[in-house]
Amino acid sequence: MKLTNLLRQLLFLILTLIFSLGFHSCESKTSKDTSSKELVSLKEAYKDYFPIGVAVSPFSLKDSIERALILEQFSSMTPENVMKSGPIHPEIDRYNWRAADEIANFARDNGLKLRGHALIWHQQYPEWFFKDQQGNQITKDTLYARMRSHIHTVVKRYKDVIYAWDVVNEAVADSTHMVYRESSPFYQIAGEEYLVKAFEFAKEADPDAKLYYNDYNAVRPEKAKRIHQLLENLIQSGAPIDGVGIQGHWSIYEPSETALRNALDLYSSLDLEIQITELDISIFPWEKHQRPLKEGENKGFTPELEQKQIAQYQMIFEVFRDYKDALTGVTFWNISDRYSWLDHYPVEGRKNYPLLFDTELQPKKVYHKIVNFNQE
Ligand code: G3I
Repeated sequence: MKLTNLLRQLLFLILTLIFSLGFHSCESKTSKDTSSKELVSLKEAYKDYFPIGVAVSPFSLKDSIERALILEQFSSMTPENVMKSGPIHPEIDRYNWRAADEIANFARDNGLKLRGHALIWHQQYPEWFFKDQQGNQITKDTLYARMRSHIHTVVKRYKDVIYAWDVVNEAVADSTHMVYRESSPFYQIAGEEYLVKAFEFAKEADPDAKLYYNDYNAVRPEKAKRIHQLLENLIQSGAPIDGVGIQGHWSIYEPSETALRNALDLYSSLDLEIQITELDISIFPWEKHQRPLKEGENKGFTPELEQKQIAQYQMIFEVFRDYKDALTGVTFWNISDRYSWLDHYPVEGRKNYPLLFDTELQPKKVYHKIVNFNQE
């Protein structure tokens, strides 16, 4: 009798264990979807194509659900803000490593690839960078000494974990009649040579890192031509550049498939690696200038917008797969619709829904389309 009871208890324990293991493995698929199709992660679905990355903040790494989502879905990360010169080098003789270290350590501990962003940019720089002690503009030599010291210090600190850097960000002008953003303080002090110097300094600091030029609207035909010109100039000047970053801040209205394919062909012709570095698909058309919210603009993520976004994501990922030999990475800019920089830009408080995971961090319909592309 005692033996039967013992066996019963043992059987009960075994069944409980089997049930709980099964439940947890379902949970780890991060999905409410009950379809019979096997669900895999983004990184798994694209493992034969390119690493899939995501822009993160130290804050997102502290949230256990976001952290789990990053680990489950992505094979690469980019710090959204904390490695830019303003946040990381606030005073001439002081670096602020804490936030950047948190991201680097998370990558180290979990075996994630890490892209560095961004060494030289005309935004989010510290005030001291271009001024002497009297507040006057510095000379070209001083600028180069500061750029070299900044680039060497930051790049060397993360040499073991960062495999690619956005060395120069957004140096092409917004106005269509010039190549270079001449209003940039770097350009004002040193002219276009500052780009070559930035790449040289980065190469000295880490000869093994892949060095990228990164820009937005990079598949619009008009701007693609000017970015191509800048890249050609860099190559002719002997700058040690490895790749071009197409940011990919797109929308349900652009790019067209033709524009995307043409731009990828154009950049491939330079024999550079290509990465999509900051992907999101806004539900609103692109606007450069910030403006206040208009009445009725916050209309939510309607089924019609959702369909358009699915179609746009499907088209661009189909093109990406076709160009897998040229593309060495695709990185989303933010994790989920819970938070996107597009909730603040160009209109503060206009809610956007540009990513593959919803505001509850659940996969959207579009996620399943992108992951299960070979089941269509
Ligand atoms: O750090 C301050 C914080 O101290 C302050 O309390 C808070 C109040 O507004 O602002 C914080 O700074 C914000 C920063 O993000 C960090 O959250 C800035 O106001 C805000 O302007 C800044 O926006 C970033 C933007 O770059 C700056 O231009 C976005 O998060 C970031 O996603 C965005 O990323 C850029 C890429 O680097 C380059 N390509 C375009 C892309 C989108 O603009």
